Amino acid sequence: MLATKLGLSARARRYFVRTTQISLVPEPAESIRLPEQQGDMPPRVADYIAAHQLPSPCLVVDVDIVEHSYVSMTRAMPMATIYYAVKANPAESIISRLAELGSNFDTASPGEIDLCLRLGVSPSRISYGNTIKKQADIAYAYSRGIRMFAFDSDAELEKIAVSAPGAKVYCRILVDSEGAEWPLSRKFGCDPEMAIRLLVRARDMGLDAYGVSFHVGSQQTNLSQWDGAIGQVAALFETIAARGIHLRMINLGGGFPSRYRARVHPLIDYAQTVMQAMVRHFGTALPEMILEPGRSLVGDAGVIQAEVVLVSRKSENDDKRWVYLDIGKFSGLAETMDESIKYRFLTPHDGTPSGPVVVAGPTCDSADILYEKTTYELPLALKAGDKVLILSTGAYTTTYSAIGFNGFDPLNAVCI
Ligand SMILES: Cc1ncc(COP(=O)(O)O)c(C=O)c1O
Repeated sequence: MLATKLGLSARARRYFVRTTQISLVPEPAESIRLPEQQGDMPPRVADYIAAHQLPSPCLVVDVDIVEHSYVSMTRAMPMATIYYAVKANPAESIISRLAELGSNFDTASPGEIDLCLRLGVSPSRISYGNTIKKQADIAYAYSRGIRMFAFDSDAELEKIAVSAPGAKVYCRILVDSEGAEWPLSRKFGCDPEMAIRLLVRARDMGLDAYGVSFHVGSQQTNLSQWDGAIGQVAALFETIAARGIHLRMINLGGGFPSRYRARVHPLIDYAQTVMQAMVRHFGTALPEMILEPGRSLVGDAGVIQAEVVLVSRKSENDDKRWVYLDIGKFSGLAETMDESIKYRFLTPHDGTPSGPVVVAGPTCDSADILYEKTTYELPLALKAGDKVLILSTGAYTTTYSAIGFNGFDPLNAVCI
């Protein structure tokens, strides 16, 4: 990092980074060792795994790659302010590195807020983006200096007006999430018509009606979803302006990808699509833009090393083997629910003859099957005790890992 190389104190570095964000920070550190292709094995992680006897399963995250992804995003969309979605991976080394680089943080709970504050992030750089909050948690966040809150309903707005008077609020709208491998639709957001009424009400309650947010669904593969959502927000801005409210901010959410089995567009394609849509719908009067990336910043930086526990068949002439790993749905790979996120595996026998498999976790719960309908092939030579590497597992793994289900330890993790 340039600011680090200049030998500035942490505080000066933060200031330097924030005030020079567009021109200087986006210079990627030359020392960062990147994989040849996006999402391949990060070289430092490979070295680390080779040099250490790790407990199994264990996630290893290269924080330099997180830095690289963050810097790439600020370069691709220099007009946007990044709020890292802490939920994707709240490891302290990740939060600290992103804080040093000038990132802001989107949080979902008092726990995440406390984590960011403890690591020196000022409250003005933290949003409380969960639309479902306890009254007491809103009051707590406000007492810690948080002044930016998301909402999508009357009842939530009433809670914020009581416990966070005068705060900046933004309304989340429901948008189409078709094309997302991990959709976040239905549960969050409201109809744009309703958002207009709610934002007017927010103003009338003494809150600062700041803007509108949406999330097109995580791991969104259909780039045109941003165009549709931005178009809806621009129309909403126009309608509400006629009611005397001049919204200032559009929060474009997350949805930018990691590299799982299917190839994905490079980040620059997403950035271009978003910027073109912004100009198409808002013209030159662009509002403040916020991005809340999670998966795209940390996913490809992490690799889980796991172990094969058992390889078996269900009948004498079963053509599918069952490969049971020491990691499953309850120990970090929850996003394999409905076989949504399709991870890539590396084994010591790659390149030798392979055959179809069902991949499952180690617990006594029959829901703990990772892939049964999706076609997966693994080497015929694979056997109990073999190490398996699961790529692009830096996002939404450690925090999804159960504490002691079936007596198994939660997922081990190390940031390097
Ligand atoms: C409010 C909010 N913002 C951002 C994110 C991060 O999304 P992604 O990991 O797709 O970047 C999420 C994910 O659940 C979210 O709920």
